[in-house]
Amino acid sequence: MIILEKIEDVRKKIKKIKESGKRIGLVPTMGCLHNGHLSLIRKAKEISDYVVISIFVNPKQFGPNEDFDKYPRTFERDVELSKNEGVNLIFHPSVDEMYEKSFSTFVEVEGRISQILCGARRIGHFKGVATVVSKLFNIVTPDFAIFGQKDAQQCIIIKKMVRELNFPINIVVSPTVREDDGVAMSSRNNYLSKEERKAAHLIYDGLKDALNLYDRGETSSLELKKAVEDKILSSPLFNIDYVEIVDLETYELVEKVEKQSLLAVAAFLGSTRLIDNVILGGKNDD
Ligand code: PAJ
Repeated sequence: MIILEKIEDVRKKIKKIKESGKRIGLVPTMGCLHNGHLSLIRKAKEISDYVVISIFVNPKQFGPNEDFDKYPRTFERDVELSKNEGVNLIFHPSVDEMYEKSFSTFVEVEGRISQILCGARRIGHFKGVATVVSKLFNIVTPDFAIFGQKDAQQCIIIKKMVRELNFPINIVVSPTVREDDGVAMSSRNNYLSKEERKAAHLIYDGLKDALNLYDRGETSSLELKKAVEDKILSSPLFNIDYVEIVDLETYELVEKVEKQSLLAVAAFLGSTRLIDNVILGGKNDD
Protein backbone atom coordinates (compact mmCIF):
# COMPACT_ATOMS: atom_id res chain seq x y z
CA MET A 1 0.00 0.00 0.00
CA ILE A 2 1.32 3.44 -0.80
CA ILE A 3 0.38 6.80 0.68
CA LEU A 4 0.59 9.85 -1.57
CA GLU A 5 -0.03 13.48 -0.68
CA LYS A 6 0.66 15.20 -3.99
CA ILE A 7 -1.77 15.31 -6.90
CA GLU A 8 1.01 14.92 -9.46
CA ASP A 9 2.30 11.76 -7.75
CA VAL A 10 -1.18 10.25 -7.83
CA ARG A 11 -1.52 11.07 -11.52
CA LYS A 12 1.81 9.37 -12.34
CA LYS A 13 0.94 6.26 -10.34
CA ILE A 14 -2.57 6.00 -11.82
CA LYS A 15 -1.18 6.36 -15.35
CA LYS A 16 1.02 3.29 -14.79
CA ILE A 17 -1.81 1.30 -13.21
CA LYS A 18 -4.09 2.09 -16.14
CA GLU A 19 -1.39 1.06 -18.62
CA SER A 20 -1.40 -2.37 -17.01
CA GLY A 21 -5.14 -2.63 -17.80
CA LYS A 22 -6.38 -2.54 -14.22
CA ARG A 23 -9.77 -1.11 -13.29
CA ILE A 24 -9.62 1.46 -10.54
CA GLY A 25 -12.08 1.76 -7.66
CA LEU A 26 -12.19 4.95 -5.58
CA VAL A 27 -13.66 5.33 -2.09
CA PRO A 28 -13.72 9.01 -1.07
CA THR A 29 -13.66 9.51 2.72
CA MET A 30 -12.90 12.09 5.35
CA GLY A 31 -11.07 9.45 7.43
CA CYS A 32 -11.80 8.29 10.97
CA LEU A 33 -12.59 5.01 9.26
CA HIS A 34 -15.21 2.64 10.66
CA ASN A 35 -16.91 -0.50 9.38
CA GLY A 36 -19.17 1.57 7.12
CA HIS A 37 -16.13 2.87 5.25
CA LEU A 38 -14.55 -0.59 5.28
CA SER A 39 -17.65 -2.07 3.64
CA LEU A 40 -17.19 0.41 0.77
CA ILE A 41 -13.54 -0.63 0.46
CA ARG A 42 -14.60 -4.30 0.31
CA LYS A 43 -17.11 -3.47 -2.40
CA ALA A 44 -14.38 -1.61 -4.32
CA LYS A 45 -12.11 -4.66 -4.07
CA GLU A 46 -14.89 -6.86 -5.40
CA ILE A 47 -15.53 -4.81 -8.53
CA SER A 48 -12.11 -3.34 -9.36
CA ASP A 49 -8.45 -4.38 -9.47
CA TYR A 50 -6.81 -1.39 -7.78
CA VAL A 51 -8.40 0.34 -4.80
CA VAL A 52 -7.73 3.98 -3.99
CA ILE A 53 -9.15 5.69 -0.93
CA SER A 54 -8.94 9.39 -0.31
CA ILE A 55 -8.72 10.72 3.21
CA PHE A 56 -9.39 14.44 3.22
CA VAL A 57 -11.47 16.49 5.64
CA ASN A 58 -12.86 18.89 3.07
CA PRO A 59 -13.20 22.42 4.51
CA LYS A 60 -15.47 23.53 1.63
CA GLN A 61 -18.33 21.29 2.77
CA PHE A 62 -18.45 22.56 6.35
CA GLY A 63 -20.48 25.64 7.26
CA PRO A 64 -18.94 28.39 9.43
CA ASN A 65 -20.63 27.03 12.58
CA GLU A 66 -19.96 23.39 11.84
CA ASP A 67 -17.38 20.94 13.13
CA PHE A 68 -14.46 21.24 10.65
CA ASP A 69 -11.88 21.93 13.37
CA LYS A 70 -13.05 19.25 15.74
CA TYR A 71 -13.80 16.62 13.08
CA PRO A 72 -11.94 13.49 14.29
CA ARG A 73 -8.63 12.86 12.53
CA THR A 74 -7.17 9.39 13.14
CA PHE A 75 -4.77 8.99 10.23
CA GLU A 76 -2.42 6.36 11.68
CA ARG A 77 -5.29 4.09 12.63
CA ASP A 78 -6.89 4.68 9.20
CA VAL A 79 -3.63 3.56 7.55
CA GLU A 80 -3.59 0.31 9.55
CA LEU A 81 -7.24 -0.46 8.77
CA SER A 82 -6.70 0.32 5.07
CA LYS A 83 -3.67 -1.96 4.92
CA ASN A 84 -5.67 -4.80 6.48
CA GLU A 85 -8.41 -4.35 3.89
CA GLY A 86 -5.92 -4.52 1.01
CA VAL A 87 -6.21 -0.90 -0.11
CA ASN A 88 -3.57 -0.14 -2.77
CA LEU A 89 -3.25 3.63 -2.49
CA ILE A 90 -4.25 6.24 0.08
CA PHE A 91 -4.49 9.77 -1.25
CA HIS A 92 -4.06 12.10 1.71
CA PRO A 93 -3.64 15.66 0.45
CA SER A 94 -3.29 18.80 2.54
CA VAL A 95 -5.86 21.59 2.24
CA ASP A 96 -3.28 23.69 0.35
CA GLU A 97 -2.67 20.87 -2.11
CA MET A 98 -6.39 20.68 -2.93
CA TYR A 99 -7.25 24.38 -2.80
CA GLU A 100 -4.92 27.11 -3.96
CA LYS A 101 -5.29 30.36 -2.02
CA SER A 102 -7.42 32.07 -4.67
CA PHE A 103 -9.54 28.95 -5.37
CA SER A 104 -12.87 30.02 -6.87
CA THR A 105 -14.19 27.24 -9.11
CA PHE A 106 -17.15 25.28 -7.78
CA VAL A 107 -19.44 22.53 -8.99
CA GLU A 108 -23.05 22.99 -7.97
CA VAL A 109 -25.91 20.62 -8.69
CA GLU A 110 -28.84 23.01 -8.68
CA GLY A 111 -32.51 22.27 -8.08
CA ARG A 112 -34.68 20.47 -5.63
CA ILE A 113 -32.34 17.59 -4.83
CA SER A 114 -29.82 20.05 -3.36
CA GLN A 115 -32.37 22.33 -1.72
CA ILE A 116 -34.35 20.06 0.57
CA LEU A 117 -33.45 17.85 3.55
CA CYS A 118 -29.79 18.45 4.42
CA GLY A 119 -29.46 20.92 1.53
CA ALA A 120 -31.95 23.26 3.22
CA ARG A 121 -30.15 23.12 6.56
CA ARG A 122 -26.49 22.97 5.56
CA ILE A 123 -26.22 25.81 3.06
CA GLY A 124 -23.32 25.28 0.65
CA HIS A 125 -22.63 21.76 1.95
CA PHE A 126 -23.45 19.88 -1.24
CA LYS A 127 -21.64 22.47 -3.36
CA GLY A 128 -18.53 21.68 -1.30
CA VAL A 129 -19.13 17.95 -1.68
CA ALA A 130 -19.72 18.12 -5.46
CA THR A 131 -16.61 20.27 -5.88
CA VAL A 132 -14.27 18.02 -3.92
CA VAL A 133 -15.69 14.84 -5.45
CA SER A 134 -15.22 16.32 -8.95
CA LYS A 135 -11.62 17.11 -8.09
CA LEU A 136 -11.05 13.60 -6.75
CA PHE A 137 -12.60 12.14 -9.90
CA ASN A 138 -10.32 14.27 -12.08
CA ILE A 139 -7.23 13.35 -10.06
CA VAL A 140 -7.85 9.61 -9.63
CA THR A 141 -9.91 8.99 -12.82
CA PRO A 142 -11.50 5.85 -11.36
CA ASP A 143 -13.68 3.37 -13.25
CA PHE A 144 -15.87 2.97 -10.15
CA ALA A 145 -16.55 5.20 -7.17
CA ILE A 146 -18.32 3.78 -4.15
CA PHE A 147 -20.57 5.78 -1.80
CA GLY A 148 -22.74 4.85 1.20
CA GLN A 149 -26.56 4.83 1.26
CA LYS A 150 -26.35 6.41 4.72
CA ASP A 151 -25.74 9.70 2.89
CA ALA A 152 -28.57 9.10 0.43
CA GLN A 153 -28.87 12.71 -0.71
CA GLN A 154 -25.12 12.89 -1.36
CA CYS A 155 -25.41 9.76 -3.53
CA ILE A 156 -28.23 11.10 -5.65
CA ILE A 157 -26.49 14.46 -6.12
CA ILE A 158 -23.24 12.81 -7.18
CA LYS A 159 -25.05 10.49 -9.59
CA LYS A 160 -26.75 13.49 -11.21
CA MET A 161 -23.45 15.38 -11.42
CA VAL A 162 -21.68 12.41 -13.03
CA ARG A 163 -24.47 11.98 -15.58
CA GLU A 164 -24.75 15.66 -16.47
CA LEU A 165 -21.01 16.41 -16.56
CA ASN A 166 -20.20 13.15 -18.39
CA PHE A 167 -17.71 11.75 -15.95
CA PRO A 168 -16.89 8.26 -17.33
CA ILE A 169 -17.35 6.73 -13.88
CA ASN A 170 -19.76 4.14 -12.50
CA ILE A 171 -21.25 5.21 -9.18
CA VAL A 172 -21.96 2.32 -6.84
CA VAL A 173 -24.10 2.79 -3.72
CA SER A 174 -23.48 0.44 -0.82
CA PRO A 175 -25.89 -0.33 2.10
CA THR A 176 -25.73 1.38 5.49
CA VAL A 177 -23.63 -0.49 8.03
CA ARG A 178 -25.02 -0.39 11.57
CA GLU A 179 -23.85 -1.03 15.11
CA ASP A 180 -25.47 -3.95 16.98
CA ASP A 181 -28.18 -1.67 18.36
CA GLY A 182 -29.07 -0.40 14.88
CA VAL A 183 -27.23 2.95 15.05
CA ALA A 184 -25.81 3.86 11.63
CA MET A 185 -22.03 3.94 11.91
CA SER A 186 -20.66 7.46 11.64
CA SER A 187 -17.46 9.27 12.53
CA ARG A 188 -19.68 11.74 14.37
CA ASN A 189 -20.86 9.01 16.80
CA ASN A 190 -17.50 9.67 18.49
CA TYR A 191 -18.86 12.99 19.75
CA LEU A 192 -21.69 11.37 21.74
CA SER A 193 -21.60 11.18 25.54
CA LYS A 194 -22.32 7.77 27.10
CA GLU A 195 -25.89 8.80 27.80
CA GLU A 196 -26.40 10.16 24.28
CA ARG A 197 -24.90 7.04 22.70
CA LYS A 198 -27.38 4.93 24.68
CA ALA A 199 -30.30 6.90 23.23
CA ALA A 200 -28.98 6.99 19.64
CA HIS A 201 -30.75 3.76 18.59
CA LEU A 202 -34.10 5.59 18.77
CA ILE A 203 -33.54 7.05 15.29
CA TYR A 204 -33.36 3.65 13.61
CA ASP A 205 -36.06 2.26 15.92
CA GLY A 206 -38.34 5.04 14.67
CA LEU A 207 -37.45 4.30 11.05
CA LYS A 208 -38.24 0.62 11.61
CA ASP A 209 -41.58 1.51 13.23
CA ALA A 210 -42.44 3.47 10.09
CA LEU A 211 -41.34 0.59 7.85
CA ASN A 212 -43.61 -1.76 9.83
CA LEU A 213 -46.53 0.63 9.58
CA TYR A 214 -45.94 0.97 5.84
CA ASP A 215 -45.81 -2.82 5.47
CA ARG A 216 -49.19 -2.99 7.22
CA GLY A 217 -50.66 -0.64 4.62
CA GLU A 218 -50.15 2.87 6.01
CA THR A 219 -49.29 5.26 3.17
CA SER A 220 -49.91 8.65 4.81
CA SER A 221 -46.62 10.53 5.10
CA LEU A 222 -47.97 12.36 8.16
CA GLU A 223 -48.62 9.10 10.00
CA LEU A 224 -45.36 7.49 8.93
CA LYS A 225 -43.36 10.58 9.95
CA LYS A 226 -45.22 10.78 13.24
CA ALA A 227 -44.13 7.24 14.10
CA VAL A 228 -40.50 8.28 13.65
CA GLU A 229 -40.90 11.56 15.54
CA ASP A 230 -42.69 9.91 18.48
CA LYS A 231 -39.96 7.32 18.89
CA ILE A 232 -37.12 9.87 18.68
CA LEU A 233 -38.81 12.33 21.03
CA SER A 234 -39.32 9.61 23.63
CA SER A 235 -35.86 10.74 24.74
CA PRO A 236 -35.50 14.35 25.94
CA LEU A 237 -31.91 14.33 24.64
CA PHE A 238 -33.09 14.67 21.03
CA ASN A 239 -34.05 17.65 18.91
CA ILE A 240 -35.40 16.79 15.48
CA ASP A 241 -33.92 18.71 12.55
CA TYR A 242 -36.19 17.06 10.00
CA VAL A 243 -38.16 13.91 9.30
CA GLU A 244 -39.23 13.90 5.64
CA ILE A 245 -40.48 11.54 2.98
CA VAL A 246 -39.46 12.27 -0.61
CA ASP A 247 -39.94 10.51 -3.92
CA LEU A 248 -36.80 8.50 -4.55
CA GLU A 249 -36.44 9.78 -8.10
CA THR A 250 -37.59 13.39 -8.02
CA TYR A 251 -36.93 14.22 -4.37
CA GLU A 252 -40.39 15.89 -4.29
CA LEU A 253 -42.06 15.73 -0.87
CA VAL A 254 -44.83 13.15 -0.96
CA GLU A 255 -48.11 13.14 0.97
CA LYS A 256 -48.96 9.55 0.16
CA VAL A 257 -46.31 6.90 -0.36
CA GLU A 258 -47.33 5.35 -3.66
CA LYS A 259 -43.90 4.87 -5.23
CA GLN A 260 -40.51 4.07 -3.76
CA SER A 261 -39.72 6.86 -1.34
CA LEU A 262 -36.91 7.88 0.96
CA LEU A 263 -37.74 8.36 4.62
CA ALA A 264 -34.90 10.52 5.89
CA VAL A 265 -34.08 11.85 9.34
CA ALA A 266 -31.66 14.37 10.77
CA ALA A 267 -31.68 14.85 14.52
CA PHE A 268 -29.49 16.53 17.09
CA LEU A 269 -28.44 14.42 20.01
CA GLY A 270 -27.04 17.13 22.24
CA SER A 271 -24.94 19.15 19.80
CA THR A 272 -24.22 16.19 17.50
CA ARG A 273 -26.21 16.03 14.29
CA LEU A 274 -26.97 12.48 13.14
CA ILE A 275 -28.63 11.37 9.90
CA ASP A 276 -30.21 8.12 8.79
CA ASN A 277 -32.74 6.87 6.25
CA VAL A 278 -34.66 3.89 4.92
CA ILE A 279 -36.43 3.25 1.63
CA LEU A 280 -40.20 2.75 1.79
CA GLY A 281 -41.32 0.24 -0.82
CA GLY A 282 -37.77 -0.77 -1.61
CA LYS A 283 -34.87 -2.89 -0.55
CA ASN A 284 -33.23 -2.09 2.80
CA ASP A 285 -30.57 -4.74 2.87
CA ASP A 286 -28.71 -3.03 5.67
P1 PAJ B 1 -17.45 10.38 5.08
O1 PAJ B 1 -18.49 10.88 5.99
O2 PAJ B 1 -16.10 10.03 5.62
O3 PAJ B 1 -18.04 9.13 4.34
C1 PAJ B 1 -17.31 8.50 3.33
C2 PAJ B 1 -18.22 7.47 2.66
O4 PAJ B 1 -18.60 6.48 3.63
C3 PAJ B 1 -19.52 8.10 2.16
O5 PAJ B 1 -19.85 7.55 0.88
C4 PAJ B 1 -20.53 7.68 3.21
O6 PAJ B 1 -21.86 7.60 2.72
C5 PAJ B 1 -20.00 6.31 3.60
N1 PAJ B 1 -20.49 5.90 4.92
C6 PAJ B 1 -20.45 6.61 6.08
N2 PAJ B 1 -21.06 5.92 7.07
C7 PAJ B 1 -21.51 4.76 6.52
C8 PAJ B 1 -22.22 3.63 7.02
N3 PAJ B 1 -22.60 3.55 8.29
N4 PAJ B 1 -22.50 2.62 6.18
C9 PAJ B 1 -22.12 2.69 4.86
N5 PAJ B 1 -21.44 3.73 4.32
C10 PAJ B 1 -21.13 4.74 5.15
O7 PAJ B 1 -19.24 11.42 2.91
C11 PAJ B 1 -18.15 11.95 3.05
O8 PAJ B 1 -17.19 11.47 3.91
C12 PAJ B 1 -17.73 13.19 2.28
O9 PAJ B 1 -18.85 13.97 2.01
C13 PAJ B 1 -16.97 12.85 0.96
C14 PAJ B 1 -17.86 12.07 -0.02
C15 PAJ B 1 -15.69 12.07 1.26
C16 PAJ B 1 -16.56 14.18 0.27
O10 PAJ B 1 -15.76 14.95 1.08
